[in-house]
Amino acid sequence: MLDQAALRTLFPTRDDIPAQHRRAAPLHQRVTLVGGALQPWTGDTVPVVSPVRIRDDSGNLTPVVLGSVPQGGVAEAEAALAAATAAYDSGRGAWPTMTVADRIACMRDFTMRMVARRAEVVELLMWEIGKSFADSEKEFDRTVDYIRATIDALRDLDNASSRFVIAEGTIGQIRRTPLGVVLCMGPYNYPLNETFATLIPALIMGNTLLFKPPRFGVLLFAPLLEAFAAAFPKGVLNTVYGKGEVVVPYLLGSGAVNTLTLIGSSKVADHLKKLHPKANRLRAILGLDAKNAAIVLPDADLDLAVKECLLGALSFNGQRCTALKMLMVHSAIVDAFLRRFVAELAKLKVGMPWQAGVNITPLPEPDKVAYMRQCVDDALARGARVVNDGGGTSCDTLFYPAVVYPVREGMKLYREEQFGPVVPVMAFDDVATALDYVITSEHGQQVSIFSSSPEQIGTLVDPLVNQVCRVNINCQCQRGPDIFPFTGRKDSAEGTLSVTDALRSFSIRSMIAAKQTNASKKLLDDIVQQHESKFIHTGFIF
Ligand code: G3H
Repeated sequence: MLDQAALRTLFPTRDDIPAQHRRAAPLHQRVTLVGGALQPWTGDTVPVVSPVRIRDDSGNLTPVVLGSVPQGGVAEAEAALAAATAAYDSGRGAWPTMTVADRIACMRDFTMRMVARRAEVVELLMWEIGKSFADSEKEFDRTVDYIRATIDALRDLDNASSRFVIAEGTIGQIRRTPLGVVLCMGPYNYPLNETFATLIPALIMGNTLLFKPPRFGVLLFAPLLEAFAAAFPKGVLNTVYGKGEVVVPYLLGSGAVNTLTLIGSSKVADHLKKLHPKANRLRAILGLDAKNAAIVLPDADLDLAVKECLLGALSFNGQRCTALKMLMVHSAIVDAFLRRFVAELAKLKVGMPWQAGVNITPLPEPDKVAYMRQCVDDALARGARVVNDGGGTSCDTLFYPAVVYPVREGMKLYREEQFGPVVPVMAFDDVATALDYVITSEHGQQVSIFSSSPEQIGTLVDPLVNQVCRVNINCQCQRGPDIFPFTGRKDSAEGTLSVTDALRSFSIRSMIAAKQTNASKKLLDDIVQQHESKFIHTGFIF
């Protein structure tokens, strides 16, 4: 029987923690990276607390303090902004004017230094957000792969631009150039990967950066600060710590930020964009809310649908923007679906992130368990029930997944993005009802459809691709592979991310143009032959 007491015993005593995962001592980060050097920090700090609790002999649970990080204010944000602005120097700085080949060399150097700190970063990632050790390792490795793929993509992009184009008597050369100062803010659920999915392309395109780490998953960047300082010219990347509501309005209100990249909520993004004094000058690359639905049709392979929906709804406790957050199942099969779904869910392993094969782990947001409870209670009060044994049982930061059925319009779970281990299920009779749910949603990221009928799939795909940006056929929603475009409609995104799209998102095409005269030809030829410009050249990066 799964109850609160049983969940409590899943938290470890000190001795239960395997030796290789024990924290020898808290990590108190007392530096920031501003203007190219690690600056000693003597100001306020905030503790970094793990979602893992330690259980004593009486069963009391104590939070694990992992360390602390600087808590900056407006003055520190101002210094970071000044450093980023100086490094950009209105496009004249060493970094924005550096050749692509040299920027690539810096990024390779950074990657090598980053890989050397893998063990520390992975361990902090696991402890800070409760992501399983295996998934934390995957997140690190996927990020390194992403950086390498980005380097290759930029090399190809630049090589394709290493030529002149002649049209209507005009000679042109077109290349992608940086935008200026980029403010980069990542999410806590993929603190390393999603942050770097914007930070790395923004950097490599020649922008200078203000980097504000996520609220949870902040200490894991400490081992990388030296790598940033060593690999890039002065002021190219500057850290900003402190309360978002204090420092971010200052940065955007200054008008000196050219690009905002944020993986977070649409409410915050809407608010932030309005703070820039010249809205037209601010480019925004945003990954925002999502409430991806699965539509399970009567002729679906039920085992496959159950497996994918379970993965889609509960990987990393449902804390993925791409998670399936509403399961719509045809009424002819909903009972069978639910029976199998809860049976499979019961096999998921609940425990601590270092345990092999663990699926459900402690939640990092302090108020998350209470919010999960509210969502479930609201649905129960409006006629739904929890259909899995022990669903919704919680103890401190552990919340055992609740499958809630039938979810209807008017319940919180119908529209709110729960971003956690609660699985709302509703039944439908007519496929138009399922389609209507997607059409009337405020979100438009992805959808999954489960059917074995070419006709049904074909009929559903055509309207759905105009509502969301990825329709997954007989599989869960997800971002990867990273070469595919990752974006969304409505409140789900602005701009597109993928290895190649991100390079475009963080740059703009600029060109030189000259009349096709003999004088121009000679001039351009001399510039190329004498290597007079880093922009006008025909060099090839191998
Ligand atoms: O949180 C949103 C992530 O981008 C999802 O990525 O589908 O690879 O888990 P994923």
